[in-house]
Amino acid sequence: MKTIIEPFRIKSVEPLRQTTRAEREEFLAQAGYNLFLIDARNILIDLLTDSGTSAMSTEQWAAMMRGDESYAGSESFYRMKAVVQELTGFRHVIPTHQGRAAERILFGVMCRAGQVAPNNTHFDTTRANIEFTGARAVDLPCPEAADTQARLPFKGNMDVEALERLIAAEGAERIPLVMLTVTNNSGGGQPVSLENIEAVKRVTARHGIPLYLDACRFAENAYFIFLREAGYGGWSPKQIAQKMFSLADGCIFSAKKDAFANIGGFLCTNDDRLVEQEKDLLILTEGFPTYGGLAGRDLEAIAVGLREVLDPDYLHYRIVSTEYLGRHISERGVPIVQPPGGHAIYIDAERMLPHIPRSQFPGQALAVELYRHAGIRSVEIGSVMFGEKARHELLRLAIPRRVYTQSHIDYVVEAILEVNERRQGMRGLEIVWEPPFLRHFSARFRPL
Ligand code: F0G
Repeated sequence: MKTIIEPFRIKSVEPLRQTTRAEREEFLAQAGYNLFLIDARNILIDLLTDSGTSAMSTEQWAAMMRGDESYAGSESFYRMKAVVQELTGFRHVIPTHQGRAAERILFGVMCRAGQVAPNNTHFDTTRANIEFTGARAVDLPCPEAADTQARLPFKGNMDVEALERLIAAEGAERIPLVMLTVTNNSGGGQPVSLENIEAVKRVTARHGIPLYLDACRFAENAYFIFLREAGYGGWSPKQIAQKMFSLADGCIFSAKKDAFANIGGFLCTNDDRLVEQEKDLLILTEGFPTYGGLAGRDLEAIAVGLREVLDPDYLHYRIVSTEYLGRHISERGVPIVQPPGGHAIYIDAERMLPHIPRSQFPGQALAVELYRHAGIRSVEIGSVMFGEKARHELLRLAIPRRVYTQSHIDYVVEAILEVNERRQGMRGLEIVWEPPFLRHFSARFRPL
């Protein structure tokens, strides 16, 4: 059979609320044209993020009833730790309330002012948490990533030569760690090959620099390796993921992505000395090391989710259904980052709206128009989010896991194609207020 069906059926449903265009115009004005500031009840299809928005399975809900809410030594922690260790092989597992808490603790312990922390491409919170320590966050994407239209298998890779040059220029002692984000979220949801992880590992090992994974979407990355990298066609997603983790010295993980959990994360390391400092910080702000800011039931949901996400049928559906959205809009002329990513489709807003200069935020303008037209929420990943460090002006349509059906996605396709027809009439925006950090969450805009 050629038809790809959702590999699940629906037991519990949530109503979607329609709004009128006039209402949406009003909501936009109230929110200062920032979609983060629009109430969820006024969104029809929410593609803001794939983070914490997954539908949990019956097995996850059942496991939650088993949650052991003991302050110290909870059974749920040991169940979660066993699953994480079997998958990653890391010696120490520290639960955190979400990915950025793991980042804050890891970078807080490892990074100092004047140091440099390279990544294939930092996500906004990883960059901000590094910069908060006074260190410099450097993106080293592979050169092929610069061309959004090039259809190459592993555009999430790190530029290994650039890493060598950075180490030569800065000195290994000023680089506390190297991180690889799998898949590369800010770089278009593109995967990183095992060959690249191995090459980066050879460099970091030679210089005695620890290599960490930002592993939020490790399962999607593993499936792309299965599909695209020579030599792995006979491997299971789990075996590939295990190999990815085996090359690293530790990881940070947001369980809100590839663990189908609505909250949670963890930090892993093989470093016996570092882990003590990490636990001290954890106790200060997150909680005791056997719950790390989570309820026992959250730990249970993560443990089950980490197993479910490696199901080849699920991953096949996930990758193919994301590609479905990308293909149906790109075939009709909407420029997307090619090839489609794992968790999201990224429209190249600069290419779609060449009449709107970067200074007027083409990605944000497109996000606003898509909401105004069809009640769809997406997110700008460009100059609003990254300021002058933005490489591209992208609009991300992130697909929550196991939440929307094909008819929802067909609606999204239709809406984007209609907006594309009328793109010449669209105008940019200017910022009228912004906070000192992570401005995209709360900045306010005015249409030009
Ligand atoms: N690293 C990456 C690559 C991410 O995509 C995210 C979150 C984080 C770290 C932080 O994890 O949210 O649990 O604190 N990304 C979400 C997104 C917010 O929409 O892409 P968190």
